[in-house]
Order: sequence, then C-alpha cells, then structure tokens
Amino acid sequence: MRFGVCYYPEHWPAERWSIDARLMRESGLSIVRIGEFAWAHIEPSERQYEWDWLDQVIETLAEVGLEIVLGTPTAAPPAWLVKAYPDVLPVDANGRQRRFGSRRHYCSNNSNFRHHTERVVTNLAKRYGENPAVIGWQIDNEFGCHGTARCYCRNCIIAFRQWLKIKYQTVDKLNEAWGTTFWSQVYTDLDQIEPPNLTVAEANPSHILDYVRFSSDSWMAYQQLQIDLLRKFSPGQFVTHNFLSNFPNLDVYAMAKPLDFASWDSYPTGHAEVQASRLYSPNDQSPNYMFDIGDPAITSLSHNITRGQKQRTFWVMEQQCGNINWGKYNTGIRPGTVRLWTWHAISSGAEAVIYFRWRASLFGHEQHHSGLLKHDGSQDIGYQELINMQDELPEMTEIASSPHNSKAAILLDYNSLWALQQQPHHKDFDYFSHLFIYHRAFQQLGIPTDVVSPDADLSRYKIVIAHTQWLGSESLAKTFKSYTEKGGILLLGVRSGFKTSTNIVTADGLPGPFRDLLGTTVTSWFALPPEASFDIESDIPGLTGPASIWAESLEPYSKVSNRIMVKALARFASGPFSSQIALTEHEVGDGRAFYLGWYPTVTQAKALLIHLASIAGLTFYEELPSGMVVNQRDPYTILLNFTEQPITVNITGQKVTIDQKDVAIINSTA
Ligand code: GAL
Ligand code: ZN
Repeated sequence: MRFGVCYYPEHWPAERWSIDARLMRESGLSIVRIGEFAWAHIEPSERQYEWDWLDQVIETLAEVGLEIVLGTPTAAPPAWLVKAYPDVLPVDANGRQRRFGSRRHYCSNNSNFRHHTERVVTNLAKRYGENPAVIGWQIDNEFGCHGTARCYCRNCIIAFRQWLKIKYQTVDKLNEAWGTTFWSQVYTDLDQIEPPNLTVAEANPSHILDYVRFSSDSWMAYQQLQIDLLRKFSPGQFVTHNFLSNFPNLDVYAMAKPLDFASWDSYPTGHAEVQASRLYSPNDQSPNYMFDIGDPAITSLSHNITRGQKQRTFWVMEQQCGNINWGKYNTGIRPGTVRLWTWHAISSGAEAVIYFRWRASLFGHEQHHSGLLKHDGSQDIGYQELINMQDELPEMTEIASSPHNSKAAILLDYNSLWALQQQPHHKDFDYFSHLFIYHRAFQQLGIPTDVVSPDADLSRYKIVIAHTQWLGSESLAKTFKSYTEKGGILLLGVRSGFKTSTNIVTADGLPGPFRDLLGTTVTSWFALPPEASFDIESDIPGLTGPASIWAESLEPYSKVSNRIMVKALARFASGPFSSQIALTEHEVGDGRAFYLGWYPTVTQAKALLIHLASIAGLTFYEELPSGMVVNQRDPYTILLNFTEQPITVNITGQKVTIDQKDVAIINSTA
C-alpha cells in the first residue's frame, strides 16, 4: 500500500520545495504526482523548453526518497499555443467556440494540437523516461471533464466522416444501419453528414449514438497517441489515467484497456452533492448520511467501476482530504473522515491513495480548496490524519496486498447507456440510477460486486446482472449463453434486447437475441407515471409490492416446441397485466437465466438478489444497517461504519461492534 500527494511546485518558490519534501516524508507519504498542468512552465514559448526547475523539483523530491508520477501537461494548453493555433479550441453542442482561460480547452481531433502533444510528450518522456525516481505517468487529466467529451468543430466533422467511412464503407450501408428513410434523411454522399447537434427537431437516434461513439473513440485515439510515445521512451514506467467518478460520457472500459491500471479521483462529499439527484430515482430518495462524509454508496460505485475497468486493483489518484470548492455547499470534514475514506479505498482494491492536494492554493480557481497543508503552510486536518494513520500502515499494506475477488458483477454497457440517454421514454428511467439500484442491493447484502463491461471475463462471477441490456446482438447472446451453460446465474432486466447495435429496433420478438436464452418473450410494455403502479405477487419473500416506472408482461417462449421450460417466479396482480408473468427463470446448461419484467425498488432488488445468491451459494448478510459497507480482501472482511453511531452486527459467525466512522477487520484464518 502506498500513499502520495498531488503537488504543484510551480506554485511555490523554489526555496520551499525541500521543506515540502521533508514534510511529505514525515507524514508517511512516498509518492508525489506533479506536472499535469505545467505546460506553460515546461515550454514558455514554442519549442523553448525550460527543464531546470523540473529537474530540480524531481531531484529534491527524490533526495528524500519520494517517488514521482509525472502528468503529461496536455489538459492545460498554454496561451501562446492557443494564440498561434486558434483552431485547437473546442466547439460545444451550441456551436460556440470555447476560450482560453481555464483548462481542457482543446479538441482531441485537431491536428495542430496532436502535433504539439506529440512534441511535448516526446520531450518529457525522453527527458524523464529513464529517471529512476519517476515511476510512472498519468496521461492528461480527467478526460471529458467540464463537458468536453464531445466537440463539434470542423476537424471533428471531418474526422467523424472518416470514422463513418471505416465503419460502414458505403453510404448505402450507413443509410440502412441508421434507418434514414425516416423523415427523408437519406444521404447520397458521406460528406453530407454533419454532427447531430443544432438540428431543428430530434435527430436520428442512430446518428446520435454514432457521434457519441465517435467522440469516445476520438479520446481513445488521442490517449493512444500519448501511450505510444510513453511506451517508446519510458519503457519501465507505468502509464495510467485519472478517470472521473461514475462518468457517463466516455467508455471508460475501452479507455482503460491500453493502460497498465486504471485510477480515479475520489471526492466523496462533492460527488454526493452533485451526483445524488442523478443516481437516486424520485421514488428512491438518497439516505441522509452525514453531510461531511459523502454517500458511501456513491463512492463505492466508483471504486467498483474502476476495479471493473481492468478487473484488477487500481489507484485513487486524487483523494479528497478536506473541503473541496466545486460542490453545492463544499462542507468541511471532521477528524476520522480521511482515514475512513482511505480504508474504504483500500478495502475496495486500491493499491495506492494519492491525496489532493499538498497545500491550499493562494491563487486561481481553487483558492477555496483544502490541501493537507493550509494556505499558510501549517498543518490542516488532512495532514494530522496522515500522522494519526501511521500506526495502521502495516495493516493497511497487508490488506492492500490481499486479493480482491468479487463473485458478482453488474454490466455497465456504455452503448446501452448512451442510447437510453437520448430516448429514456419515461422521464425517470435512467440507465445509471437503475444500475445503482442493483449496486446498492448488493452492497446492503455485503456481496462484493464488480461493475464491468459486457466484454469482460464473466467466467469469474457466479451472478451477473444486466439491468437493461438495451442494445442486443447475437454475439452478446452467445457470450451470455456460454456463461450460463457453465453454471453462471444471469439476470436481464426490462428493455433488454429492444435495439440492435446500430440503435434501431429489433424486428424479432422481444427481448430480441436473448429470447432463446431466457425462454421468455415480452408481450407488452407499459411506462408508469409517478401516480401509477402495478402490484406484484410472488413467493420470493420481499419481492411483492408495487412495480413502478416500467412494467413488461412476459410469456414462456420456445423456438422448438410448446413445452414450457420456464418457471414463473412472480406475476402482476393488478392493472392491465394482471395475472401475467413478471419474472421468469430458465435453466440453461448448469446455470440459469432470469428475466425481470419491471424496474425494481432497492428492496425488491435486494429480495431478488437474496434469491439468486442462495442459488449461487454466495455468502450474504441480510441485516446490514444502512451506512455500513462490507468489503472483502481474502482472508479479510473489512467493515466500515459511515454513521455517527456504533453498529453491532453478526458477521462470519461473530458479533462485531464498529464504532462511529470506524473500521473493523475480521481475519477468517485467525
Ligand atoms: C479534480 C481535478 C483536479 C482538481 C480537483 C479539485 O477533478 O483533477 O485538478 O481540480 O478536481 O477538486
Ligand atoms: Zn473538435
């Protein structure tokens, strides 16, 4: 287990660097991340490099034994570059070109920008690629942040047409894939195609989805440009990127593939403030955790997505250590909080936690953001927490080196998410909050869960949930089939298989390519306004109660015979679907495939997961109080109490009391 800090030496006089280095060591830190916004300092004018200061910083830090993660500085293109090549500036969906003066002001498809990226990254990598104090690289900073995932400039339009040409080869194939006969949108040349923004009425859903995919691919290609240079000139150093929390706009799984490991930036209070309204449905209000600790369910989701990105351990590249400055209220924190967040990261699979930031800034947009040190250089609460945590370091290190093996997974399919974002059909039908329902249900049962992409290795999981696999394909149906045949338990939820991979509706019966596997067909669907719900009847304890938001009536289906192979586990008991099937179970080889015909509440999802976990033989805890997180790093079970009261639970056959904002660790081999 390693701890570190994000440092901006360019903000402080050179005389201060050695004092900072010493204080870092004294607080137990061993890693420093620097450089990710320092382009103007490295290259003050075109091709004029200034390395002395950075050489000296690295030397000063290395002298006391600190290891360095270098950021490539491309998230902050300097003013001279923008002035000389104004077309690097991105254009937003409203057609406005953005200006210099903050950060992330560039288009990933701009050839001038790519050229300058190549130059600055090559020079950095050549200079520090063999420096033993530099252990690795962070590429850029938070791709997609500040609404920059999609650009609509001329470069992007041209790049989009090239992307379409590679994907469809001919305009006729594109017309067919997009269904452009609708509203006479037929193209006779790929050069007629523009991005789907600024249309008068709603654009073609297939067109929009391809633009979103193209945008995500553009960032991947831009990232790859940097990866290739770093691999070439700094072969022994790792390459990562600091991803955003629960981010809907870029496919973080595809982006993580060429990296050594994934990292994310954790700001629990800020994420609770800005994500709660997106993640909790209106009929499913967020719990009131302490305002100054964040929501452990939201933080856990990010940890579990980041671990799922490469199905392995990860880094927290930025960890909040005081108040932030971009939330709604930007609350302070109390003693114990940083320690609990750190334990939360470790128990979720973090190999390193890097605190943001070393010292509060005197200038710029982040003046109100805490660091480990205050503006005046004295210790802030975060620094004191590090000092207090030192006794625990051996235990943290031991746990961090133990394997993290989730036996359950939820699929996060970016294509389904992007397609549903444009056509939710029901205002409260949200792909991410639907996923979050299952995620919380697993968490309330203490079942460790990876959140993975549909092309992940599913064979390691006993239960896989595809809550809305909206876009279906024969190949995914095959993947699901071989997973279940070998004993896997798979649950598909409403609206699965409705669309094809180009975002047009399947011409087969629903759920499209998954019908055979599920032994089930959807006969009808019904979107429910907030005032309406249908009753559910079932022998599975806890599954009964109202179905709201979305309901689908189900029937057994078999291509080959009329023999009913499928079990009905729940039925609608009121409304137009009364007495029709609402949940099915189909035996497939050694496993089982389930289809749930409504958008569940957390209570219903929990009841269903208890049923599935019992079949799968997974350990779960039915009575975990809210505000408690149970993580597993074999042979350790880590219990985290995010509430203000002590909690006593029965776990692995023992009665354990966990104090408020505290951690308890059970070693099953002890
Ligand atoms: C992150 C970002 C950092 C800093 C921080 C403030 O999103 O990567 O550079 O701005 O937020 O909380
Ligand atoms: Zn662009």
